[in-house]
Amino acid sequence: MYCVRNVTDDLLWVGGDDRRLVMFEGVYSVPDGVSYNSYLLLDEKTVLFDTVDHAVEKVFLENVEHGLGGRSLDYLVIHHMEPDHSATMKAILMIYPDVTVVCNKKIQGMINQFFGENVVKNYHLVGEGDVLDTGKHKLTFLMAPMVHWPEVMVSYDSADKILFSADAFGTFGALNGALFADEVDFFGDYLGESRRYYTNIVGKYGTQVQALLKKAATVEIDMICPLHGFVWRRNIGDYIEKYQQWSRYEPEVTGVMIAYASVYGNTENAANILACKLRDKGIETKMFDVSVTASSEIVAAAFEYSHLVFASTTYNAGIFISMDELLRDIASHNLQNRTVAFIENGSWAATSGKLMCEIIGGLKNMNILESTVSIKSSLKESQLSDIDALADAIAATIPMPLDSE
Ligand code: FEO
Repeated sequence: MYCVRNVTDDLLWVGGDDRRLVMFEGVYSVPDGVSYNSYLLLDEKTVLFDTVDHAVEKVFLENVEHGLGGRSLDYLVIHHMEPDHSATMKAILMIYPDVTVVCNKKIQGMINQFFGENVVKNYHLVGEGDVLDTGKHKLTFLMAPMVHWPEVMVSYDSADKILFSADAFGTFGALNGALFADEVDFFGDYLGESRRYYTNIVGKYGTQVQALLKKAATVEIDMICPLHGFVWRRNIGDYIEKYQQWSRYEPEVTGVMIAYASVYGNTENAANILACKLRDKGIETKMFDVSVTASSEIVAAAFEYSHLVFASTTYNAGIFISMDELLRDIASHNLQNRTVAFIENGSWAATSGKLMCEIIGGLKNMNILESTVSIKSSLKESQLSDIDALADAIAATIPMPLDSE
């Protein structure tokens, strides 16, 4: 049975929610599920914007059939070829063989890669600024390479001022019936998952996201329809501002994220003592055991916080496994503009501090504090001054609010 909602009078959401998926892209846990959005425009011509993942194929095909109400499908716009949006394209092509696929040249190449040549009967290739007239609506296509694959484009409907934004402005989490962001407490309940989605999926491509935001700023936008998560029709500027901040690698919180890897609790103990001393100074802290918390959560927090402390035991003459993976994950997401400090531990040859610094120090505009605390097995009373010195060094880089009188 179909499950659709009206976005506007002549635009339907025809996607689906997946709450059974354990790991999105095989990497990111999605405890609250994920939505695969597709939209159907019923103009003089009918237009389907993208398809969906195999997981929701059945309801999607019923949605499209119901939405069309017996009309033929004239256009299938493909913004992005990643299979969470294109996997069911072949099914659409089999049911509506005369449909014209609207895409750019790179997308055409990827259609051939995924499905083989000749799967599409009719193509309408578009480039930057090209317009497709569907009757009342005029769709302008804008290229958005690396947001989040090289072929990605977005489209803008000048009639209703709607941006079809592909992966941009998406979020993890099923919709659960609420299609619009203003139907939930988005900034209270969903911003964390939205940040985790952004930072892990497109965090590496801040420059390209900035380029897309510049293009988007040249048109008036009343609505954003992304491929995951909620449709935006209110407070759009607040969400765009979050994208500005994330894509410029600007921290949202002035405070310290402490991530530690500890085998027997001694490195954790040092991290806890540092957190207490920072709190004594009125500095906000957030802590993660990297062996317990998934990397995607900590990557998101690293984007959120201004200061990062990494504490790791030395393991096989290197960085502890889960910390090594985390640091490389952060580095591969191109994090920039943070103040960073390290705590190392080693029962006979502590090397983790130097090695952690080699990974993070190579990132752009990182202020690496020199007060690395080096522990031999466990923190000693005599070393509390080292933790104090580290807390002081961190505090010295955080402007404190003036005392109110
Ligand atoms: Fe939602 Fe890049 O796919």
